[in-house]
Amino acid sequence: MSRLGTETAFEVLNRARALERQGKDIIHLEIGEPDFDTPKNIVEAGVDALRAGWTHYGPSAGFPELRDAIAEEVSRTRDVKVAPEEVVVVPGGKPIIFFSILALIDEGDEVIYPNPGFPIYESMIHYVGARAVPIRLREEKDFSLDVDELATLISDRTRLIILNSPHNPTGGMLAKLDLEQITEAIGERNVMVLSDEIYSRLIFEGQQHSIISEPGFKERTILLDGFSKTYAMTGWRMGYGVMRADLAAQVARLMTNSNSCTSSFTQRAGVEALRGDQQSVEQMCAEFRRRRDAFVAGLDRIKGFSCRIPKGAFYVFPNITATGWKSKALADALLDEIGVACLAGTSFGEFGEGYLRFSIANSMENLQRALERISSWATKTL
Ligand SMILES: Cc1ncc(COP(=O)(O)O)c(C=O)c1O
Repeated sequence: MSRLGTETAFEVLNRARALERQGKDIIHLEIGEPDFDTPKNIVEAGVDALRAGWTHYGPSAGFPELRDAIAEEVSRTRDVKVAPEEVVVVPGGKPIIFFSILALIDEGDEVIYPNPGFPIYESMIHYVGARAVPIRLREEKDFSLDVDELATLISDRTRLIILNSPHNPTGGMLAKLDLEQITEAIGERNVMVLSDEIYSRLIFEGQQHSIISEPGFKERTILLDGFSKTYAMTGWRMGYGVMRADLAAQVARLMTNSNSCTSSFTQRAGVEALRGDQQSVEQMCAEFRRRRDAFVAGLDRIKGFSCRIPKGAFYVFPNITATGWKSKALADALLDEIGVACLAGTSFGEFGEGYLRFSIANSMENLQRALERISSWATKTL
């Protein structure tokens, strides 16, 4: 258990809440969940399902209708033919990370993962006793990935490469050319790819490209996507993996051994989410874009802060090296001194030093208040 890591966002949230109990006014820019309500049509579908008795166990891999809807959605959006047997429905995106690593990785194997990156990757790699091999995402490459660098990290022991696009915490994205070059770098090696695409519908520029669409990579990819971010359904707990049918059967068995199944009424709401009106997704995305533009422009005006423009997801990841402060010390100071909760870049791995992560899943008004506080703090302190 000592090898298992965690997600700092929840710890910072607890600290911020403790300060609130002491009467402090905190602006929450630490947690990565949409501040919007789940769209009404989806809530209604969930409530109807509860009333109609969808309150029992279901199949471990998910109900056929939802697996069909997901297979259709992924086939359409990733331009690849996906069958329902290749889909496993799980409680959130995270279990796909957990189960893929449990299923595929032995002690001593190597897993390459983005750093800075979602902390659960490194945590799980360590947990199973594998070697975590970070690929550094560089600001000068707009936080995509240097494929030459990746090529030097692939060894005979590499079993899995984790990709995440759009990327948490940087908002970087992988271009089609990046993906083509990654497939070349992998070549004929026995390496699988876990492609975390949980932010695939929250894109401000360009479009989603997935390695699953590359020739020969459908069999070698586990695609992770879900409902938490796209449909503001974080608390419903539902996500999915798309993978080879034989691997899907094993992951379903891990579901039988852990959760039994994803909540039945949630899955009914999931069918509505995918097949119903998509207007709310477009509205949320447009609002995130508006906030991104305002927040990036505001931070860029503050002494010591400079920002790349995130292309997707809902985070802003400014470079703060010119402040002369370390990431963790700065994040702590902003919370303790001016009540702005954000995360140190180092919450996402060692290569996050020199950065902060702000979640823009808060109102424009609160984002403007946060900018004012940070700006006057920087003028006074730096
Ligand atoms: C990159 C990434 N993958 C997976 C997840 C997990 O999402 P879920 O809440 O659906 O488990 C998150 C959530 O923050 C994330 O940022």
